[in-house]
Amino acid sequence: MRVLVTGGTGYIGSHTAVELIKRGNEVIIADNLSNSQENVIDKIKEITGVKPKFYLTELTNREETEKLFKENKFDAVIHFAGLKAVGESCLKPLMYYNNNLTSSIILAETMAKYGCKKLIFSSSATVYGEPERVPIKEDFPLSTTNPYGTTKLMIERIYTDLVKADPEWNVTLLRYFNPIGAHDSGLIGEKPNGIPNNLMPYIVKVAAGELYQLSVFGNDYPTHDGTGVRDYIHVTDLALGHVAALEKVAESGVHVYNLGTGTGYSVLDIVKAFEKVNGVKVPYVITNRRPGDIPECVADPTKAYEELGWKTVYGLEEMCRSSWHFLEKMREN
Ligand code: WQD
Repeated sequence: MRVLVTGGTGYIGSHTAVELIKRGNEVIIADNLSNSQENVIDKIKEITGVKPKFYLTELTNREETEKLFKENKFDAVIHFAGLKAVGESCLKPLMYYNNNLTSSIILAETMAKYGCKKLIFSSSATVYGEPERVPIKEDFPLSTTNPYGTTKLMIERIYTDLVKADPEWNVTLLRYFNPIGAHDSGLIGEKPNGIPNNLMPYIVKVAAGELYQLSVFGNDYPTHDGTGVRDYIHVTDLALGHVAALEKVAESGVHVYNLGTGTGYSVLDIVKAFEKVNGVKVPYVITNRRPGDIPECVADPTKAYEELGWKTVYGLEEMCRSSWHFLEKMREN
């Protein structure tokens, strides 16, 4: 299939592009490079032997978005592009609502205009807010606690209403838990600009001596060791979840899947595993809770397994190993 991957030079987008190409799909990437680098296209070629066509595109610009569809006839679109920093979204809500919503609406309008009605949307477990219990199923109540999460929930609702109005649409909403790790080549991985917000990229920088120590945001949560528990999923497993959705979701309608492992690890579990797997030290200090954090967030991935035949393959050790290997590879170059 010919697939448009928006945000395809980003962390999850690039890993998904690799897996799509490996399975014989033609991938075309549109990205504005606001949180990624164009050389990722060359890394994708180095991994797969295929250099995807790249368009520098602002999806909030209708003409630039239309150019993609004028020049290519797409069978499907996987929509990753969007601003995604929780903290920043609290400081700049209008930027987040304008960018994430406008781009998602213009994209869908342009898809319809050019007869492409198969869309996979990059959503997030953040739409569950603070769950009553874990593991979380797709029919759990939805609520959000920050503008970033609210854009994800709003876009889910926008696309759901679109399908109600035009049942020809085939929309899949993939709710990611906590993606970490890197491609086993070490050529692509998570490379956040500046000081990382997320746990694993922060741990990697502390282990590399680029940051002094990890602040563990609270150890008084109702969890096995008091620190926050999350469902960490290897980014390649996540990418394969998109391949499964593309290949298996044939009928029209709205389809929702949690993409997680079903296993939760605490912050200290991650620190200890990272140190053990990579033979490094990760100095840390316990600090106050981070506002907006929840105690636990773990997926029930049963539905994706039963309907898409998808389940995760990589374990915590490989997630830790590949995260560190990516940094080592970056240092070599
Ligand atoms: C994980 C755990 C922190 C950093 C967010 C978004 C979510 C998705 C993934 C985009 C928590 C703790 C973290 C640190 C710490 N993003 N932590 N010290 O908050 O679960 O999810 O990123 O789609 O939408 O909400 O991920 O990696 O920030 O935190 O102790 O320096 O690590 O308290 O328990 P989070 P995270």
